[in-house]
Amino acid sequence: MCGIIGYVGSQNPKDILLDGLKRLEYRGYDSAGVAVFENGKSQVYRCEGRLENLERRLKEVQFAGHIGIGHTRWATHGAPNETNAHPHKIGAITLVHNGIIENYIDHKEKLLKMGRSIASDTDSEIVAHLFDIEVTRGLTLLQAMNTVLPTLRGSYAFVVMSEKEPELLIGVRNGAPLLLGVGEGENYVASDAQAVLHRTRQIVYLEDHQFAALTREKISVFNDRGEPLNHTVKRIDWSPEQAEKLGYRHYMLKEIHEQANAITNTIDGNIDHKRGVIACSELAFTRDVLASFKRIAITACGTARHAGLIGKSYFERFARIPVEVDYASEFRYRNPVIDSSTLLITISQSGETADTLAALREAKGLGSKTLSICNVRDSTLARESDVVLYTNAGPEIGVASTKAFTTQLVVLYMLSVEVGLARKTLTEAEAKELTSDLVRLPMLVESVLQKEDELEKIAIEYQADPSFFFIGRGCLYPVALEGALKLKEISYIHAEGYAAGELKHGPIALIDRSTVTIALASVDTPYSHLGTAYTTVLHEKVVSNIQEVRARGGRVISLVTEGNSHFDPISQHVVRMPRATWAMSPILYTIPLQLFAYYVALQRGTDVDKPRNLAKSVTVE
Ligand code: M6R
Repeated sequence: MCGIIGYVGSQNPKDILLDGLKRLEYRGYDSAGVAVFENGKSQVYRCEGRLENLERRLKEVQFAGHIGIGHTRWATHGAPNETNAHPHKIGAITLVHNGIIENYIDHKEKLLKMGRSIASDTDSEIVAHLFDIEVTRGLTLLQAMNTVLPTLRGSYAFVVMSEKEPELLIGVRNGAPLLLGVGEGENYVASDAQAVLHRTRQIVYLEDHQFAALTREKISVFNDRGEPLNHTVKRIDWSPEQAEKLGYRHYMLKEIHEQANAITNTIDGNIDHKRGVIACSELAFTRDVLASFKRIAITACGTARHAGLIGKSYFERFARIPVEVDYASEFRYRNPVIDSSTLLITISQSGETADTLAALREAKGLGSKTLSICNVRDSTLARESDVVLYTNAGPEIGVASTKAFTTQLVVLYMLSVEVGLARKTLTEAEAKELTSDLVRLPMLVESVLQKEDELEKIAIEYQADPSFFFIGRGCLYPVALEGALKLKEISYIHAEGYAAGELKHGPIALIDRSTVTIALASVDTPYSHLGTAYTTVLHEKVVSNIQEVRARGGRVISLVTEGNSHFDPISQHVVRMPRATWAMSPILYTIPLQLFAYYVALQRGTDVDKPRNLAKSVTVE
């Protein structure tokens, strides 16, 4: 959470900082601020609320300096107001921070005893005081790193500047992302490559417990003992244009529409065309290693966890291996029973989610092999995992995850086929059939996207309803969870996802005329090699569940396979989906739910790309 940008060079930093913050705003948008050195003095400008408030304030302000820092906040300690906004300026020090200092209260008590006055409720201001004490007693900023950092507990990334060294920025990373952008005669520091990619593609990723000193000519990286380290500059290929809206009203809508391409790009390079079978090029485990795993544990948060639940169905059906799926925030604290015979799979768009990272580290500590499914290249999760399979979805800016989810499903599908082949639960002929199915997927996705107008009309009709249930069975149950999450996070309407058969065990008490139930029921096209599509049975059971809803006055929108008329008499609306096999259905059924949530939110006038209280990347526990 929170976006950080810093610049040192010869240009006017105003546009660089504001522009960087605009690209980082998805990380938090409770307040924003910048600080620049003017004639050796740090000038701070901060505003409560969105970045546009800060832009307005700075409209007439001219900066003379060439070095500055900026921050966009997702509040953890203290209300989202101007006093708690960053940068925090204390004496000679100005600082921006992302993360949480867990022992800030101990420090605060000591500072108060020393007679220091503390203006904000933040943990960040406390750290600014600690640095100020050190530079006031004559230490350089670099020396102050060695005395202050060991006293801090928690996860953090900082960028600090001192009026005593007005040509220097220091960036520190410990548990929250921070990277450096290398330019010519100028350098950048940011929490996300997106903030600087339109200015430089040359990126240095800091590791935990490292800090960097940036001047306009040079960057230097140090370990936590202050010893200089060699650093690698990586070239990032995401073009800045990929991260623009390209004429769409919102990033979310653009990203929904990008799904066919994103899926194609994710499949690309992962098929052995000679054999006509999936072969994940980044899968560095040998067949023997894959076959040696006795079970799989999947851990992730939010939408990524929903992908994991569908992955479980894929692995169990194609590879006949036991799989458990956990919230990352629960996994790490429940002393999980895993060992070297467990493959731990983490799934994360950003690769920076604190809970997921902690779960990965927990599993590594217990001896598991780790594989991550990530979208952001070289993210922390990617770097710390034994194997990374990338979703090539391109940058996802909308806070509500869309194309990251469907491409995660594609990767899980490909991996389950690989594991199935390794364990010999799939024959080559079965794997071939599953592969040609996957190759057809982008075309089916395109055909579902054609339903946009229909979904918009339905959304307009239901946008004022107060409560929604999403139900499905089998691998459409996690899709129901995902549909409910999408609707609640961007439209702020109460929505719950349930396994359709579970409704009668309690939630049905809530069904009346005011509730809307969205039922997902596919009749899957049978596989020629993999036996019958047992979802035909499940689909009939969903019909019964819908009858139960109707009997209590509830209204129903059904998503069903074309040609299926069973839902017509019991639904207010029926959305017809293309025929597809069992494993493709969850990917296809997700898309109308994304569109529905989008158009409901649009009707309700919410901030679709930056819904209240949320952040794209949750880097605190
Ligand atoms: O970056 P990650 O995939 O690790 O993020 C996990 C969740 O925070 C994320 O999926 C969240 O639930 C989305 N806002 C849902 O749309």
